[in-house]
Amino acid sequence: MQWLPFLVLALSSLSSGGLLRFQCSQLVVQRLDPLVDPGLVPSSHVHQIVGGNSFNATMDPKKDMPGESTCTTCSFSEDFSNYWTAVLYFRARNGTYKRVPQKTQIDGGVGGITVYYMTDALYDTTQKSKVTAFKTGFRMFVGDVNARTKQAVSNFRQLTYTCMKDSGTRAPESLEFPNQPCPFGIMANVRFPTCWDGVNLDSPDHMSHMSYPANGTFESQGPCPASHPVHTPQVLFEVVWDTKQFNNKADWPTDGSQPFTWAFGDATGYASHADYVFGWKGDALQRLMDTSCVVNCPAANPKTQSNAKMNACTQKAVVKEDVDGWMPSLPGGHMAKYS
Ligand SMILES: *[C@@H]1O[C@H](CO)[C@@H](O)[C@H](O)[C@H]1NC(C)=O
Ligand SMILES: *[C@@H]1O[C@H](CO)[C@@H](O)[C@H](O)[C@H]1NC(C)=O
Ligand SMILES: *[C@@H]1O[C@H](CO)[C@@H](O)[C@H](O)[C@H]1NC(C)=O
Repeated sequence: MQWLPFLVLALSSLSSGGLLRFQCSQLVVQRLDPLVDPGLVPSSHVHQIVGGNSFNATMDPKKDMPGESTCTTCSFSEDFSNYWTAVLYFRARNGTYKRVPQKTQIDGGVGGITVYYMTDALYDTTQKSKVTAFKTGFRMFVGDVNARTKQAVSNFRQLTYTCMKDSGTRAPESLEFPNQPCPFGIMANVRFPTCWDGVNLDSPDHMSHMSYPANGTFESQGPCPASHPVHTPQVLFEVVWDTKQFNNKADWPTDGSQPFTWAFGDATGYASHADYVFGWKGDALQRLMDTSCVVNCPAANPKTQSNAKMNACTQKAVVKEDVDGWMPSLPGGHMAKYS
């Protein structure tokens, strides 16, 4: 990423807290959702999942899952968390759908995402806020699968897309899918809220135990509200959807409608959402957040693993269905819709 050398130089001498940035390769792509649809096989729509290999239809927080994993697809080898989002599909002029692959950032890898944990804004040269890392059993969700308007997605403040011209493009960000071909791909940026109620590891909607700052933003160091007083790291996913094979406008719908759609049929882009199940070993995440370090955080001496090991950690889909061919409807029977 082009801005990275700048980030490292700018932060390394000044920061007092950690900013982690690392890759996780693909674990599995399938219709399972232990957070929103626990036990349901298959769940409603297709997800791409990275992280620990104990990911399953049911993940009991009391069993220290995903601590039961034997490997992880993430470069920090003490991170057995699971991170997932819906999958992006392309709808061709003839009405059929094809899965958009994720662009891998890992040599020899397949798909995957970039994960960040930070104490202050991504571009802040002084990562300095004191944060409390998540606890075993913690999980959260962000977004609204039913959002189809700009107003609805604005409640979440920070679920955006970047139309990438090249690997370094980071601006502008939009709340809807880009409406023109993006030469390098479409980056989905998912930022989770950063204030915790300090008590509940989860909540019925998987969101209300977390909150945005009372005023201002995470970036402006807005204070956490009294109801959610504990300042956590910000978790950010960057998911780059490799649209290259779908950028020929001759394949796009003739009526000018958006050709990309989430796996559950949202063709506006407003219903971007993501899931997080915490699974760092012991106090590894807290130690990293308490150390002045950036990106790979060598100052905190974290345990890491090779690309080959990350890539070797995969799961066989338990839901046996085609998610990759040209299909008349999206897996689960969904169709692209704009409202
Ligand atoms: C998922 O759960 C099922 C049922 O409990 C179990 O048989 C299976 O081994 C689990 N898979 C993984 C990858 O942990
Ligand atoms: C539909 O269009 C795509 C992209 O042009 C093409 O690859 C596919 O074969 C077409 N399918 C049918 C059934 O015509
Ligand atoms: C946010 O709230 C804090 C504490 O109540 C206050 O000091 C600060 O001025 C507020 N900031 C804005 C931008 O309203």
